[in-house]
Amino acid sequence: MCGIVGYIGDEQAAPVLLDGLEKLEYRGYDSAGIAVFDGKQIQIKKAKGRLKVLEELTHDGANMPGSIGIGHTRWATHGEPNDTNAHPHFNSKKTIAVVHNGIIENYLKIRKKLEKNGYKFLSETDTEVVAHLLDYYYNGNPLEAITKVMHRVEGSYALGVLFSDHPDKVYAVRKDSPLIAGKATDGSLIASDVTAVLKHTRDVYYIDNQEIACLAKDSISFFNVDGEPITKESKHIDWDANAAEKGGYEHFMLKEMYEQPKTVRDTLSPRIKDNHVVIEDMKMTDADIKKIDRIHIIACGSAYHTGVTAKYVYEGMARIPVDVDVASEFRYRDPILGKNDLVLIISQSGETADTLAALRLAKERGIRTLAIVNVVGSSIAREADEVMYTWAGPEIAVATTKAYSAQLICHYLLAIRFAKAKGLVDDATEASYIKDLEKLPDQIELLLNNKERIQKFANRYVTAKDIFFIGRGIDYAISMEGSLKLKEISYIHSEAYAAGELKHGTISLVEEGTLVASVVTQEELYKKTVSNIVEVKSRGAFVLAVTNEGNTDIEKVSDYVIYVPQTNQYFTNSLAIIPLQLFGYYVAVGKGCDVDKPRNLAKSVTVE
Ligand code: AGP
Repeated sequence: MCGIVGYIGDEQAAPVLLDGLEKLEYRGYDSAGIAVFDGKQIQIKKAKGRLKVLEELTHDGANMPGSIGIGHTRWATHGEPNDTNAHPHFNSKKTIAVVHNGIIENYLKIRKKLEKNGYKFLSETDTEVVAHLLDYYYNGNPLEAITKVMHRVEGSYALGVLFSDHPDKVYAVRKDSPLIAGKATDGSLIASDVTAVLKHTRDVYYIDNQEIACLAKDSISFFNVDGEPITKESKHIDWDANAAEKGGYEHFMLKEMYEQPKTVRDTLSPRIKDNHVVIEDMKMTDADIKKIDRIHIIACGSAYHTGVTAKYVYEGMARIPVDVDVASEFRYRDPILGKNDLVLIISQSGETADTLAALRLAKERGIRTLAIVNVVGSSIAREADEVMYTWAGPEIAVATTKAYSAQLICHYLLAIRFAKAKGLVDDATEASYIKDLEKLPDQIELLLNNKERIQKFANRYVTAKDIFFIGRGIDYAISMEGSLKLKEISYIHSEAYAAGELKHGTISLVEEGTLVASVVTQEELYKKTVSNIVEVKSRGAFVLAVTNEGNTDIEKVSDYVIYVPQTNQYFTNSLAIIPLQLFGYYVAVGKGCDVDKPRNLAKSVTVE
């Protein structure tokens, strides 16, 4: 996700800002920029590409004199990565500069209102709306303008703001996206996380939701959303820089698992308006949707696994036939595609070679393509007819977790949208789906907080040779992902099997003590899967069952049970996968594996 820095003090600001942005590079970005007040006005320099481009543009900050400024590394969410969309953004008079991390969910509505009031926009970003809205409310009092903006915008934001007629203050605002402030001997700083300020101070203030920080050279003051002064305690950071990059977590993978409640919320809430699913980034009309004869979901790895789950959801809700295929097979099997089919491409990186080739094949055949992608401006995002972003922020760990969870959310939203367009879901049902979806982030958080219990269980299997995952329907798809998570980071052989298929051969591999993880969240298949559990138990298996709260009778046939909160049957994947992610992670940690960078694997497989 984006990185923010700000500084006011005795030193030249630009080099301090560039150094701070360097410390935030690990967060992933596609462009960068800084704004510095030079004594008369605010100067902005920004550019697409690596920080090096900005350092060359500013001669390492030498051509941007001034001791107060803000800086930004952009992870694009709205608008391609380019110089214009890079932050900071100005108001038209260039008297207010803004950097932003997060998503302004109602930016289109505000932009239209401001354009009606004569405001001119230069970029495609949601952030530029904030710069003009501050201008709209500004009457010489920064705090007042800021609080008015906070009451008007919806969504998540960490903001750094400069006002040219208040060149002795940097303002910082936080809602949902992290932001810290730090007092150093030579000045005051803000940053998206502590890594960017550790060089200057280890005593930081965590700015909480709906709070404003006002940085002067020698002091920092805090205010609430009504502009009333508040007091805050600073915290001493004793992490080293490396740990700080992971936010104090041992691995990026664990950090990203814990980001799942936020990425699910960030992917979901901008697409829920007045209890309806509204996918603004989708051009397909109801008429287009009604014409779809078949959906072909094409992807690789975990992205493919979301497709296996999604087949049940699209077919169940929208009654559209769905084929799911791995891209490396699809692209070479001369697929039969109907002119009214939809090819749905799923990719976190947007650069996976096989998936990109599958997309190109579909386009060559003149078939409509829609991509669910995490990286804005990636090849798949640019080449698909339509793109729906997962807004999970950059995923550093090779083993995907938060992007996978965000992809599931996009599937659920599309399925509801398709079903509504076809008149198969009424408002009440849609509202009930939305209610369940909006509970998912807190339910995921609950499961993540269960990690000690799973860690203890996982430690028993660090020497395991074979571990099986079984399930039926969506539970089979969940088993696929649980198995992949385990094997790709712990190097333990594992297979996912359709529970009903075991007796056709594979059950011969089950021996005394073999761990079989059984996913049992699909109530209508519950009894069938329980009978498969009994089958493996009778051959000596040790059974871990993952099932919905309330299914306590499963304890009679299982050795270890993990319960997940109740949700709609279509959405159980988003919950049941959490303990399986944690299980794979802790087995790998117990084995001393390189969890974030497993052997033989790349984060994006850009070759065949
Ligand atoms: C999942 O943990 C793996 N890293 C891998 O299977 C990945 O999902 C697959 O390579 C697809 O990548 P993409 O989503 O970037 O296209």
